[in-house]
Amino acid sequence: MDRIRITGGRQLNGVIPISGAKNATLPLMIASLLTQDTLILDNVPRLADVRLLQRILGNHGVDVMIAGKRPGESTDNQTLHISAANIVDTTAPYDLVSKMRASFWVVAPLLARMGRAKVSLPGGCAIGTRPVDLLIMALERLGAQIEIDAGYVIASAPRGLQGNEIVFPKVTVGGTHTALMAAVLANGTSVIENAACEPEVGDLADCLNKMGAKISGAGTTRITVEGVAKLNGARHSVLPDRIETGTYAMAVAMTGGDVMLQNARPELLQAALDTLAQAGANITATNEGIRVTRNGGGIAPVTVTTEPFPGFPTDLQAQLMALMTRAKGTSTITETIFENRFMHVQELARLGARIHLDGQKATIEGVDRLKGAPVMATDLRASVSLVIAALAAEGETTVNRVYHLDRGFERLEAKLSACGASIERLSG
Ligand code: EPZ
Repeated sequence: MDRIRITGGRQLNGVIPISGAKNATLPLMIASLLTQDTLILDNVPRLADVRLLQRILGNHGVDVMIAGKRPGESTDNQTLHISAANIVDTTAPYDLVSKMRASFWVVAPLLARMGRAKVSLPGGCAIGTRPVDLLIMALERLGAQIEIDAGYVIASAPRGLQGNEIVFPKVTVGGTHTALMAAVLANGTSVIENAACEPEVGDLADCLNKMGAKISGAGTTRITVEGVAKLNGARHSVLPDRIETGTYAMAVAMTGGDVMLQNARPELLQAALDTLAQAGANITATNEGIRVTRNGGGIAPVTVTTEPFPGFPTDLQAQLMALMTRAKGTSTITETIFENRFMHVQELARLGARIHLDGQKATIEGVDRLKGAPVMATDLRASVSLVIAALAAEGETTVNRVYHLDRGFERLEAKLSACGASIERLSG
């Protein structure tokens, strides 16, 4: 199993190209199931999760052709030509769905286009129980009949889905994706209330509209979808990854230095950038992207609560905690989205961090120095928080189980070492 070895203590200086967003790419690829025509996606990151979803879609008969990068592109991003001309199987089996929760989202387009879908329940996950009750509720509101049998959700709508009002009692990104992908081909109009406002929902709605859907209000809490009989192919470029952006911004705030996060868009992560500015980083938006610097002064402590967009994202909580381990004072971070997203705490403690957990609230007492040690990656964002801490720790840190990182960070070692970090992958 690959490991990553980091020797801490170096500043980061240079340019980091930001890739297309993993969490936008996955629902966009799944939306290809809604049409017989080809959906072309540009700016797709090269990630393990993208390759896995390609396999999952392949099982339904979807053909994915990968074209190389276009001239002038600064990242390794790829273009996918995705064709679901013939859906040969409407079942998504346990062995595939259990590897990646987002693959459960195929239920909506399969049901909308084929009138039926049988999709394995995704099962437990390291960051909390993560149920799918609200996704099922949304489908039922649109007239689907749902049965749960032997670990599978069996959905059917032989006469098609019917537009309706869907009110989410709690903000859910996957629930909103599901409602959108089901409502676009329903008869009549649907209104989604308390919809997620995350930029990835907006990106999905933009792409669906290019495919001929009639969606308005995406990016607000009330989305209206006028159902259409059929969707067409389209070409769409995936938006830049706000979590990758925030992660590298925190890495620079941690080590000090001067880095241009190329292609990054500040409006996708304003709350996180405001927090970083409070912590002492200088953030400047330019035509090229976001420039992050920290010179001299130390890291100031912050008080943060994770929230749905536009609040501070849960997917940057672990990275912020790593940064706060070196703050001059005491910080608090409260996690409100997932009930068990603090697995990085124990591992950060191995590097010398002082963190006290009380339910959903972490109190981080900044220390003068962290010291390198072997640590274990537990989930995607937790793993990268260990990398951030290791960049500032004295001596050598080895991060084990890096396959978690490969799910969501494209060429992490290459991007960081190009800016002066001492980081390398050890195979086997
Ligand atoms: C998406 O997960 C992201 N995944 C997550 O990123 C992200 O952390 C999360 O949204 C919140 O922003 C992808 O986009 C692939 P939710 P999702 O439905 O859609 C509860 C990463 O590291 N809930 O918005 O699964 C749920 O338990 C990943 O890239 C229900 O109760 O999250 C949670 O407490 C991790 N019932 C809250 O809602 C449901 O039916 C928000 O979850 C669905 C969700």
